[in-house]
Amino acid sequence: AEVHYHDFVLQETPVKRLCQEHKIITMNGQLPGPTLKIRNGDSLVINVMNRARYNVTVHWHGVRQMTTAWADGPEFVTQCPIRPGGSYTYRFTIKGQEGTLWWHAHSSWLRATVYGALIIYPREHKSYPYPKPHREALVTLGEWWNTDPVQVVRQATMTGAAPAISDAYTINGQPGDLYNCSSKGTTIIPAAFGETILLRFINAALNNEFFISIAGHTMTVVGADAAYNKPFVTSVLMLGPGQTTDVLVTTSAPPGKYYIAARAYASAQGVQFNPTTTTAILEYRGAGCGILPPLMPLLPAYNDTFAATAIAAGYKSLSPVTLPGPVDEHLFITVGVGLLSCPPGRTCQGPGGTRFAASMNNYSFVLPSTISILEAQQFGVPGVFTTDFPAVPPVQFDYTADNISQDLWQPVQATKVYPLKYGSVVQIVLQGTNIVAGENHPVHLHGYDFYVLATGFGNFDAERDTPKFNLIDPPLRNTVGLPVKGWAVIRFMADNPGAWIMHCHLDVHITWGLAMVFVVENGVGPSGFLQPPPVDLPHC
Ligand code: C2O
Repeated sequence: AEVHYHDFVLQETPVKRLCQEHKIITMNGQLPGPTLKIRNGDSLVINVMNRARYNVTVHWHGVRQMTTAWADGPEFVTQCPIRPGGSYTYRFTIKGQEGTLWWHAHSSWLRATVYGALIIYPREHKSYPYPKPHREALVTLGEWWNTDPVQVVRQATMTGAAPAISDAYTINGQPGDLYNCSSKGTTIIPAAFGETILLRFINAALNNEFFISIAGHTMTVVGADAAYNKPFVTSVLMLGPGQTTDVLVTTSAPPGKYYIAARAYASAQGVQFNPTTTTAILEYRGAGCGILPPLMPLLPAYNDTFAATAIAAGYKSLSPVTLPGPVDEHLFITVGVGLLSCPPGRTCQGPGGTRFAASMNNYSFVLPSTISILEAQQFGVPGVFTTDFPAVPPVQFDYTADNISQDLWQPVQATKVYPLKYGSVVQIVLQGTNIVAGENHPVHLHGYDFYVLATGFGNFDAERDTPKFNLIDPPLRNTVGLPVKGWAVIRFMADNPGAWIMHCHLDVHITWGLAMVFVVENGVGPSGFLQPPPVDLPHC
């Protein structure tokens, strides 16, 4: 196993997109930021230096961080932010994960422009559990604002309104040739007839889920969230923010140019979204000088929940799994958007003069501001959080009915964590609500991968739905798409001590408080103990 050293410098960089140049925050001057390529078992030592005007932290999305919670990154959860002029070195080891993950800023909306891929190859002399591809390429989806995304969210927080939607979607940082002034940077993936190409898709967009298709080609899904899948063939993918998917594409079409196209899956009714399409091009050798434009794939309609759900159902673990059990902790957590009344003396621009909020079990998560939750827990600092996050919702009602009265449930702003014993087996029913709008929520858990046992529509009903659980080969994920006005059941063993945030990966929803934190106590033996905090851990 190797140790990889990198310097990451957060800086302001002039970048031109959609005919306009402005300064954005980047890592090392690149958009997307640097791609990290390592092997399973390797370690990373990444020194992040902040030479920009915003606080920053970096999260290694999907990395389990066994006993290294200090390197996880979410601001005020596992560390205080790195101030302008400051630095912090993230040190961690990849244990047993292979495939595609990514890294991103975990502070305000900086991740709109501060993100990159983390590719984990098999250990030396080991191979993929599928035929070796002839070549591989990254397709990282993102969003672009013509203004500073951090200011976009600050503005929205001040007014209580929904933040402005992005001006473009991007692939590898480029809108692609269907947008103004954008043909030059369009990603071209070269191919030759008769090859197998491994495409690594990452949805790094802030607030959008995507349907993705390739004209003239099907995709064989072989992995997701750095876990291998039972291969299945599909002509379209749906990725929520935070999710990754590895596919094999066989180049068996007539030599030509084929669009790899992505556009929004807009699961909620009445929520504004950008209807444009971002593109890359799969270009066969010899087709480059042809005059024919690339072929466009057929994508599902924006609101095609049936398609989105059918694709998600295809993911299964490569081999039968040993599911952790029996379950020690049964949790039922509602996930949804709500509204708060406007504080006195202010005017709010949310629906009916309110401001948006979002919650889990009716608690809208408030980050601490003077110390991280992990430090408070480790050093016994009182008054930072309370440990009474409820295991079940405080009120039960028909969560997914239409026209739920908006007064029924107003979230309460608080910093509540749920304590877990080391080694306990946790099963969570995530129940979407339809209080303001039902929506597909990509729910992400830090520090763990979890098995997705089942998903469904409407209200979860234990008697009816438990028999549908996949206890044989459920997929291992770090981000689950909770179906619109539906539910998902996940299971994991709490074998990693630390403070781990679980949140919706639509950043607008984190901004509104759609998060909670698990605090997992230390176990026994060195593999069960959180390592001591690094000496350069930033202070608030
Ligand atoms: Cu990729 Cu807390 O997120």
